[in-house]
Amino acid sequence: MTGETKAGPPAARKDDDNMGPMPRKAVLAMPEYHPPLAGRDALRLDFNENTFAPSPRVMDRIKAITAEGLTKYPERGPVEVAVAAHLGLQADQVLLTNGVDEAIHICCTTFLDAEDEALIWTPTFFMYDVNVGLMAPGGLRRVQSDESMEFPLERFLAAITPKTKLIMIASPNNPTGAVVPRQALLHIAAAAPDAVLFVDEAYFHFHGETTLSDVGTVPNLVVGRTFSKAYGLANLRIGMLAGDAELIAHMRKVCSPYNVNGVALDCLMAAMEDTEYLDWYVEQVRSGREKMAAGLDALGVAYFPSAANFLLIKIGPKHKELVEAMRRNGVLLRDRSTDPGCDGFVRITIGVAEQVETGLAALKASLEEIAWTR
Ligand SMILES: Cc1ncc(COP(=O)(O)O)c(C=O)c1O
Repeated sequence: MTGETKAGPPAARKDDDNMGPMPRKAVLAMPEYHPPLAGRDALRLDFNENTFAPSPRVMDRIKAITAEGLTKYPERGPVEVAVAAHLGLQADQVLLTNGVDEAIHICCTTFLDAEDEALIWTPTFFMYDVNVGLMAPGGLRRVQSDESMEFPLERFLAAITPKTKLIMIASPNNPTGAVVPRQALLHIAAAAPDAVLFVDEAYFHFHGETTLSDVGTVPNLVVGRTFSKAYGLANLRIGMLAGDAELIAHMRKVCSPYNVNGVALDCLMAAMEDTEYLDWYVEQVRSGREKMAAGLDALGVAYFPSAANFLLIKIGPKHKELVEAMRRNGVLLRDRSTDPGCDGFVRITIGVAEQVETGLAALKASLEEIAWTR
C-alpha cells in the first residue's frame, strides 16, 4: 500500500447556510492523488521520468533567458505552429498543455457532462479517475485487464454504450507497459463515433507505434504527448494535444491562454529539434529495458513485457519491504500494489546504462536483505 491515493472525504454537505462555503458534491466525492514526491534525493527509478538530462540545447536556451523576458506573459501560438510543422500537422490541430495532466483535465472538462460515461482500461494512470470524477461523478466505467495485463479488446468494445462520451487509453499503458495496437484503437474510434477517443502517448518514443498520423482523418481521435519522459522536461510541465481542428478549437476555449510557461515554450523546439539526443536517450532505454529484463530473469523475478521506460515486476507479499530496502540502498522504486489487479507489484523505471546497472545491483542486494523467495 503506497498510501498515495484515497477516496475523498465523506460526501456530507452541510445544509446550514451559515456553515461556510462547500465544494461541489463531485469534488467532495473525488479521489485524491498524492504521489510520493518527498525525499527523492536518490536514483529515481520511481516516476518514469527521464532520469538523466534533456538535450544540452535546452540548457543553452535556459541560460539565454533574460530578466525582462520573465516579465512577459507567455505566447503559445508561434510554438504551436512550429510543433505542428515538426509533426506534420496543421497548427489548428495542436494545443500545447501544462503536461498531459492538463490535457486530461481539458478533455474531461470539454467533453463530459455530469450524466455521461467515460471508459478506461485498468490498471492505468490515476489522473483519468480524478478528472472524470470531477465532471461525471459515477460515470467512470472500467474494463479490467486479466492476469496477462494485455488489452481486452472484445470486452472493451462491449463496454461502449450510447452514454460513452470519452474513452481514455494510454498506449503504452502505465503501470503495465502493455500496448494497444493502432488497428484496435481505430476500431474503437469507429465503434464509438459519438465519443472522443483520447490516446495517451506519453511513452510513445520507447515503443514507436502511433496514431498521430490518423489525426484529421479519424474525426473523434485526440492524441496526447508529453515532453516529461523521453525529452526530459518533466519539471517544465509541457505536453500537447493533437486532434481534429474542430475538437481542438473547443478545447482551446476551455484552457487558459497562458497555461504553458514561457521557459517551457522557449525550450521546446530546442528539445524537439535535437533528434540525435532524443534517439540516444531512447536507445539507452531500449537496451536498458532488455538488460533489466535479463537481470530479472537471472534473479528469478517475474515481470510483464513492456514497451515503455519501465517494467512492472511481481514481488508478492514482500513488495513494501523491497521498496524500503531499495531506498536504503539508494534507489527509488514505485509500489503499485494498490492499483487494481496489481497486489504485490512494483514498478522500476529504466534510465541510462549505468543507472540500469546500479538498479539491478541494488535489486539483487535488496532481495537478499529481505530474504525474498519466489
Ligand atoms: C500515461 C501517462 N499519461 C500522462 C502522464 C503525465 O504526463 P505529464 O508529465 O505530461 O503531465 C503520465 C505520467 O506519469 C503517464 O504515465
